[in-house]
Amino acid sequence: MKKLLITIDGPAGAGKTTVSRRLADRLGYKYIDTGALYRGVAYVARAQGIGPDDDGGLQRLAKQLDLSFEPSAQGLRLIANGQDITDKIRTPEITMLASAVSARPALRAYLLGVQRDMGRGKGAVFEGRDMGTVVFPEADVKFFLDASPKTRAFRRFTELQACASQTLAEVERDINRRDQNDSTRDLAPLKPAADAIIIDSTDLSVEEVVARMATCISDRLDGEV
Ligand code: DC
Repeated sequence: MKKLLITIDGPAGAGKTTVSRRLADRLGYKYIDTGALYRGVAYVARAQGIGPDDDGGLQRLAKQLDLSFEPSAQGLRLIANGQDITDKIRTPEITMLASAVSARPALRAYLLGVQRDMGRGKGAVFEGRDMGTVVFPEADVKFFLDASPKTRAFRRFTELQACASQTLAEVERDINRRDQNDSTRDLAPLKPAADAIIIDSTDLSVEEVVARMATCISDRLDGEV
C-alpha cells in the first residue's frame, strides 16, 4: 500500500503526542516528535550558556549539532552529539526555553533540513506546530488538533503530576504563554494549514480522535492519493 506522510499540528496539551503515537502504531509508520528537536536544541544551548536571543551563538551551535532519534525498548531516544538527552528535555524550564529558541530564524532553518531528511521515504506521522504549513506543505493528510485552554492545561498537569513540579495554575500560565509565543512569532507561527482537517479533542477520547483520523486517511487512500 502507498506510504503516506501525515502531519499533526496544534497547541500544547491538545493530545498530539498520544494520538500521533497511536496513529503511527496503527498504520505501521514511524512517529516523529518535532517538539523534542526544539527541546533538544534548547537543552544544548542552555548547557553551553547560549541565550535564546543570541542568534550568532545559536547559529554556531546548529552548525556543530547532530540531532537524531534512535529506537530503543522504551521508544525513541533523542541523541545530541552522541549523548542521550531524552530524560532531560521535559522540565518546565526547558519547555519555556524551547518555545523561545523556536522563534529564532537560524534555528528554524537548521531544523527544517533535519525534519525534511527524516521525512524522506514517507510512512511517517510528524507532530509539531508548522508541519503542514512550512515543513511538509505537500503532506498527504494534514490534521490540526485543538482543545479548550482549560482542558489542555488540565491534561498537561495530569501528565506532569508524576514529578509534581508545577501546580495547575502554573501549568495553565505556562501553556498560555507558550500559545502566545508560538502563535504570534513572525516565522512559522502555529496555525492550521489551509487544507488541514481540524479536530477539537475537548470532548473526545484518544480512541475517538485516532478513529476519526484513521477514517479521514482511508477516505483519502480510496480517493485521490
Ligand atoms: O510540542 P512541544 O510542546 O514539545 O514543543 C516545544 C516547543 O517547540 C513549542 O513550544 C514550540 C516549538 N515547536 C515549534 O516551534 N515547531 C514545531 N514543529 C514543534 C515545536
